[in-house]
Amino acid sequence: MSAPLIVLVGPMGSGKTTVGELLAERLGVAFRDTDADIVAAEGREISDIFVDEGEARFRELERTAVAAAVAGHPGVLALGGGAVLDEGTRGLLGGLPVVYLSMEVEEAVRRVGLNQARPLLAVNPRRQWRELMDARRHLYTEVARAVVATDDRTPAEVADAVLDAL
Ligand code: S3P
Repeated sequence: MSAPLIVLVGPMGSGKTTVGELLAERLGVAFRDTDADIVAAEGREISDIFVDEGEARFRELERTAVAAAVAGHPGVLALGGGAVLDEGTRGLLGGLPVVYLSMEVEEAVRRVGLNQARPLLAVNPRRQWRELMDARRHLYTEVARAVVATDDRTPAEVADAVLDAL
């Protein structure tokens, strides 16, 4: 197999990593997370890359990481929440089994809220979440073959729904 079995996209806190690890375990395949790949390749945290070099540079690094992961990894792949913002990254996802883990704004505020480790949400989390979802929802939908709502589901239930959806 030369492409990932399942690619998870969706906002921060939608459970991409947790659900991805569960799915990989169930399917007996490896799990890969492009955020982790970027941190390993760069030797620094994502928040530091944002601060030191800005979001545009991070999106370039992310595009490179997504390309490498898609090309080389037959398993479950989770992308960072903003990966779909980059047109080149979206182009890498064509034809792949991409699942959008969706989440309502209020659920996002509950789950992630004011998390300083997430560089995009440092101030006014509710307003920023609304803006972020409004800007990204259609992009997640554009790249995805299926949408799975995560709001009232445990990670195990989301994993079941992902397998049902594909
Ligand atoms: C981001 C989401 C993060 C990470 C970076 C930017 C975003 O990934 O890539 O902080 O723009 O939504 P997670 O969705 O895995 O937290």
